[in-house]
Amino acid sequence: MMDRLDERIYHKPVMVEEVLSFVNQRKRSVVVDCTLGDGGHSQAILDNTQDTFVIGIDVDDGAVAVAGKRLGSMFRGRFHVSKGDYRELNWHLAQSGVPRVSGILIDLGVSSRQLDQAHRGFSYWVEAPLDMRMNPQSPRTARDIVVQSSEAELERILREYGEERFSRQIARAIVEQRDKRQIETTTELVEVIKSALPARARYKQQHPARKTFQALRIAVNDELSRLDGALRRCFSLLEPEGVLMVITYHSLEDRIAKRVFKQAETGGTGLVRTKKVIRPSEAEVAGNPRARSAKLRVIQSQGSWGKGRKR
Ligand SMILES: C[S@@+](CC[C@H](N)C(=O)[O-])C[C@H]1O[C@@H](n2cnc3c(N)ncnc32)[C@H](O)[C@@H]1O
Repeated sequence: MMDRLDERIYHKPVMVEEVLSFVNQRKRSVVVDCTLGDGGHSQAILDNTQDTFVIGIDVDDGAVAVAGKRLGSMFRGRFHVSKGDYRELNWHLAQSGVPRVSGILIDLGVSSRQLDQAHRGFSYWVEAPLDMRMNPQSPRTARDIVVQSSEAELERILREYGEERFSRQIARAIVEQRDKRQIETTTELVEVIKSALPARARYKQQHPARKTFQALRIAVNDELSRLDGALRRCFSLLEPEGVLMVITYHSLEDRIAKRVFKQAETGGTGLVRTKKVIRPSEAEVAGNPRARSAKLRVIQSQGSWGKGRKR
């Protein structure tokens, strides 16, 4: 398939300096990059530390093949790639024989590789089948959701995951359209969305299909439902003083990270290192518009030796 051979680097990593400032420089520490993508964060960590070993995880075969090959040959003996879901981090660590780690990075959302590879159906700009799976082996595509969901379920997905103001109108238009003819492609869906919106919403600065596409992507990849448990599990796999770093691009994701971190701090097992959430600088956003909505939160493990112990 095209993306297995396509070795270009598409994705510009977000808030690299900020992430590096939390990475421990201790000898022989292990850091997990849970969302490897094109490997930008992993590469920065490997470049800026001496003995750190990085385990890169991704559900996307393209990311695993391309970044895995590139970083594997650049940093022999210091990098290992593991294909799969970071929400099963215990499994990935067991495969590498590593019980605990000193750093975990989760950079949520979609990668530029996924967006730019037209055939994967993430982009509303180009015609493609409605797919949007990050893991090409997972069973459900965006088409399945568009074809099979009830109007009420579609409305919920668009409202909750897309924060789409016109969720009701768009859900209605999708159901009416599929009664006439099935919606198969990105451009067909864009046309249905446009037809559902009032004229003033159609000509805004942002693309009228942006929120619907975001919502479907989140639903297809089940990005929000298990985030809470996944963050707790990741946190529990840290060594004392190890850090869990989470970059979010969606207010619901950020709220979940904030709440989980706060609970760990209140319970005396964690110390929130980002009392104020970290945002990218204006200069970074100017050079990488994808960074615009990014937020970084970091929590440090206080180990299991007692309540509220400070460094
Ligand atoms: C924003 S990109 C990461 C970009 C990366 N930090 C870089 O510098 O290139 C998010 C990546 O996470 C992957 N991903 C999303 N959900 C995942 C999950 N549950 N488990 C593992 N990888 C996941 C996606 O396939 C995508 O490649």
